[in-house]
Amino acid sequence: MEKTRNTQISMDAGAPVMEPQRQFYYMDLAKRLIKEREKACGRKLTAHVETFGCQMNARDSEKLRGILDTIGYVQVDTEEADFVIYNTCTVRENANNKVYGRLGTLGNYKKKNPEMMIALCGCMMQEAHVVERLKKDYRFVNLIFGTHNIFKFAELVVRALTEKQLVVDIWEDTTEIVEDLPVERKYRFKSGVNIMFGCNNFCSYCIVPYVRGRERSREPKDIIREIERLVADGVVEVMLLGQNVNSYGKNLEQPITFAELLQEIEKIDGLERIRFMTSHPKDLSDELIRVMAQSKKICKHMHLPLQSGSSRILKKMNRHYDKEQYLALVEKLRAAIPDIAITTDIIVGFPGETREDFLETLDVVQKVRYDSAFTFIYSKRSGTPAAEMEDQVPEEEVKENFDLLLKEVQKIASEKAKELEGATLPVLVEQVNEHDSTLLTGRLSNNSVVHFSCFSDGVSGETPHADESLIGRIVDVKLVECKGFYYLGEMCV
Ligand code: SAH
Ligand code: SF4
Ligand code: F3S
Repeated sequence: MEKTRNTQISMDAGAPVMEPQRQFYYMDLAKRLIKEREKACGRKLTAHVETFGCQMNARDSEKLRGILDTIGYVQVDTEEADFVIYNTCTVRENANNKVYGRLGTLGNYKKKNPEMMIALCGCMMQEAHVVERLKKDYRFVNLIFGTHNIFKFAELVVRALTEKQLVVDIWEDTTEIVEDLPVERKYRFKSGVNIMFGCNNFCSYCIVPYVRGRERSREPKDIIREIERLVADGVVEVMLLGQNVNSYGKNLEQPITFAELLQEIEKIDGLERIRFMTSHPKDLSDELIRVMAQSKKICKHMHLPLQSGSSRILKKMNRHYDKEQYLALVEKLRAAIPDIAITTDIIVGFPGETREDFLETLDVVQKVRYDSAFTFIYSKRSGTPAAEMEDQVPEEEVKENFDLLLKEVQKIASEKAKELEGATLPVLVEQVNEHDSTLLTGRLSNNSVVHFSCFSDGVSGETPHADESLIGRIVDVKLVECKGFYYLGEMCV
């Protein structure tokens, strides 16, 4: 794979070697280059970042936007922009196909605006065959970079603005964590916070460890400092992000557990809600359950990916737990935190999965009764051990099981949701409802969505209105009606 670290260009003679100072130097340079371009075309330049993939990618996109904003691009909601960046995902084949499909349209936009720049980054770019295909069939792309050097975005933009040919910079791995670069948050009042990067688990179906590299935890003091700054800037809810948050801190110079980190975060004044994802069942400790049960701020929600209910398949998946251990863990969680919402991820059609294996999964679903579940059809990722397994399951068989699972998951989820009907619960108000401007939309501690109206004189029945001043605040809302996956509510002030 190509590696063009520290490429010298004429303009970097004065560039600092240390990060993040080096990137601030390039931000200044980019700012000047963009001003020149603006002058030449007589208008502001626009940029658009499109995110494919998980919350990690969404957080990375906020970092890209922070740089774009700093260097002078006006961010727009359309891909007909002067600079379009696709932050890609490769966890399943359809994520890749989506990117290739949409790149065609971008190419057409570029024909109309030859000065347009197109950049691709994220997990897909860490795969050599992807970069080869892009170089061959999508020659209009200007910049390709990966997951390990995203902090170098400013420097790479300067190169793309000044070099006439495609700039490719992909690193195979890194031990570096660069702090303190600009970030532009999507929401004023809530934010994702990376606590670790990469993954060491190598579940046999999963491409993530290959494209995100080895597990690296951030120093607790850096995480706390970032959250304190976010809170000072109006954030009341954080989502701590990592592929396996339960193994946080194990390889730091001064090891610390995830539960200990949570206790430190809990002390931050002004922070009201703490969420985290994802928890790997094999590492979920009693200490974490205890801390969650005692906490006033940690949301009563656990995303606990099951993947399969069959112990035989779990072994082939390299998950390091079996059906019984998973069920025992759920029982322990519910005993300590009775109102906890449990959600999950499930894969159907892993190589060698028989009807009996699938029925084991269905059995776990019926026993646990998840509040919601993401269900996926197994997707073969080249380079992973599962891709080499011989007994790949025929599509028709997978589809039938998948439909059955989805129906069961949805039925249980809506029954569970109904249990809260009539309750009055705290809701973090997120926005005015997208379809009905008389409603506000927010989330419960268990992450369910609530659309609600406000009645200012306390009389339900008068004309409802959406009080925008409540956005970013946590208010009590009565859950009047459960609509399956969301609630309609009322707030009387
Ligand atoms: N680190 C998280 C998951 C990250 S990927 C964890 O361990 O739970 C998110 C989800 O995508 C996974 O939980 C899994 O259900 C699904 N997934 C990953 N690889 C997949 C594949 N090859 N085919 C189908 N689904 C997959
Ligand atoms: Fe993939 Fe497993 Fe790592 Fe999650 S824990 S990212 S499923 S390898
Ligand atoms: Fe996709 Fe990368 Fe996330 S592969 S799921 S964007 S870590």
